[in-house]
Amino acid sequence: MTSKSIKIAIAGLGTVGAGVIKILEGSKQVLGHRGGSVAEVVAVSARDRSRDRGVDLSAYEWCDNPVDLAGLDTVDLVVELIGGSDGPALALARETLKRGKAFVTANKALIAMHGRELAELAEANDAHLRFEAAVAGGIPIVKALREGLAANTISGVYGILNGTCNYILTRMEREGLGFDEVLQDAQRIGYAEADPTFDIDGIDTAHKTAILAAIAFGQAPTLDGMPIEGIRNIAPVDIDQARDLGYRIKLLGVANRTENGIETRVHPAMVPVSEPLAQVHEATNAVVVQGDYVGQTVYVGAGAGEGPTASAVVADIVDVLRGSGGPVFGVPVAELQTPVTEEVSGNPGTYYIRLSVKDEPGVMATITSILGKEQVSINSLIQRGCAVNEGVYIVMTTHETSESAVKAALSHLTEADCVLETPTMLRIQVAGTQ
Ligand SMILES: NC(=O)c1ccc[n+]([C@@H]2O[C@H](COP(=O)([O-])OP(=O)(O)OC[C@H]3O[C@@H](n4cnc5c(N)ncnc54)[C@H](OP(=O)(O)O)[C@@H]3O)[C@@H](O)[C@H]2O)c1
Repeated sequence: MTSKSIKIAIAGLGTVGAGVIKILEGSKQVLGHRGGSVAEVVAVSARDRSRDRGVDLSAYEWCDNPVDLAGLDTVDLVVELIGGSDGPALALARETLKRGKAFVTANKALIAMHGRELAELAEANDAHLRFEAAVAGGIPIVKALREGLAANTISGVYGILNGTCNYILTRMEREGLGFDEVLQDAQRIGYAEADPTFDIDGIDTAHKTAILAAIAFGQAPTLDGMPIEGIRNIAPVDIDQARDLGYRIKLLGVANRTENGIETRVHPAMVPVSEPLAQVHEATNAVVVQGDYVGQTVYVGAGAGEGPTASAVVADIVDVLRGSGGPVFGVPVAELQTPVTEEVSGNPGTYYIRLSVKDEPGVMATITSILGKEQVSINSLIQRGCAVNEGVYIVMTTHETSESAVKAALSHLTEADCVLETPTMLRIQVAGTQ
């Protein structure tokens, strides 16, 4: 029988907060055996005290201000499930760690934006700082990188890190629907937020990518200098074209070791259907890690939702019960590399380009001339379907080139009279690479 008890405060009693209470209360004994101490919830905070959250809160102390939880003498560990990179989440993290108490969070924005400062505080005050649920929900990828793969030099980590985007892309592909239509439906059934910007514009994926890069490569998490592109501009014609070429379109967060430093980026890409990531559908997440000794490992599972996310939060709590330590990002804060914020590799590869152009003579000559001036060489080119304003789509793939060359060409093409709307560009992922 475990006699030691760790007292827990939970800030935020929404989807994840209520889920964590359910697991802690429902599995007390087994978690006690696993952690060697009993985890006991003693205090909570949320905005609305009267709201029914499907869990009994009557035995817990209530704090209107979540930051007060850190100062309670009865509390050893604070779980932050409010969200947001600043505001009460950041204030609570600082206050908890300054007091040398353990801090567990599912908040990717907080860790991506303030990870270094919080890791410093944790180290200075000998406190645990854990955030397994912040990346890919129920998939234990933070633990895998920090612990399971500690023997390896990681050359790349990339994956599908946003369930909302993958859900939208999957339905566009399966049902032939347009982006707006699927987004509205996703909002209606709760798969997308009322304000979906963070998800569909790639910011959420960028937060998670910054955290993965920090742990995989021992650098401070940052979004500075990370090119971030979402899925708003993906059209059914792109999905169809990808299928014809043997690919599926996925929004990827990518972190690579290059000769010039660590490169991080977020963008939709064409992934070969034979690749594990192409088999990941709907709201599922997946992460691929390439290590020198282990080779490639792939992690797939639920990236969000009450059960999977709470599962990851409770795993962190069990780690704290066990006293499992180690540096927050895998190496001591003083050893964390400063991230490179300028473009490091030029992102060499092959690209897919879709143009909506006027259906008239001379258009093809204009396009090929602009691409040629930027040394972008065409591998295949077809005219496809109807575009806006009675134009047509020109769909091309390039030979090996750099992203900067393609972007320069697209910027000239955008200005050309014959081009009717902003061109779309997608990186074509070569099997086994990012
Ligand atoms: N949901 C997921 O599947 C998922 C997956 C991975 C990570 N996460 C992360 O987990 C965290 C929580 O997400 P969630 O989905 O559980 O959010 P949520 O359902 O919106 O819950 C947020 C909770 O925070 C409380 N809150 C907001 N502002 C507050 C304040 N100023 N003071 C005290 N409490 C405040 C809310 O109180 P009221 O209930 O009274 O309004 C609510 O209980 C976020 O960082 C999110 O990014 C979520």
